[in-house]
Amino acid sequence: MNQIYNFFPLSIYRDKIILSPENKKEMIEEIIKMKKDSDKGLKPAQNAWTGDTHGHEYLFKNEKFKIFYEEVEKHIIKYMDHFELDVSKLEFYFQRSWATLSNSKEYISPHDHSQSNLSFAYYLKKEKGDSEFILIDKLKHNEFIPQLFTSVSAERNKIFKKRTTSNIARINIDPEEDDIIIFPSKTLHGTQKNTNNNERISISADVSILAKESKNLEHLTPPFSEWKKFTNN
Ligand SMILES: [Fe+2]
Repeated sequence: MNQIYNFFPLSIYRDKIILSPENKKEMIEEIIKMKKDSDKGLKPAQNAWTGDTHGHEYLFKNEKFKIFYEEVEKHIIKYMDHFELDVSKLEFYFQRSWATLSNSKEYISPHDHSQSNLSFAYYLKKEKGDSEFILIDKLKHNEFIPQLFTSVSAERNKIFKKRTTSNIARINIDPEEDDIIIFPSKTLHGTQKNTNNNERISISADVSILAKESKNLEHLTPPFSEWKKFTNN
């Protein structure tokens, strides 16, 4: 009997954050207001509105989102359990956070957040049929014939009998409202194209992880409190 080992996975976290309806309502209203005040129509028509590129990249400073970020923290820590990390030796920072709002056929092209360690998407307002979340694998360890996993003609010619996690380079997750999805920031991600969105609102953030104690330790960024800012810059 043969055996297949699946090594080197990409582990994505999913759970729910249940906020009070009143809190959600004020968060939604706040985001709609941010969009209204900052949307000068400069973005390409097919792009979703993203707060980080419209002057709203520190959403965690807004009191109305306080409970939300407290909940997010708990989920990030739980995600770390999966990797057997001792979080007592690490410090976590939200470095930036923003909302996205999509209407009609607007979408977010594949991108990553290379200046960050962990990122998440939380679905504050999402109806069935709104765009799904897309993850794209850059490494494709299993793709022994280059480009095969994403080949349109291979798909058309039914080269694969079936698609499984062993032969794909792209996966759609259809989150429900209140879902949070956490992933490594270096993962390419975006939203589904050609879908009709009805004021779909998500919140994202970039999280940096530093060492609490830097002594005899490589590869982790030293604690923020020890850094020295340039004096003449
Ligand atoms: Fe993103």
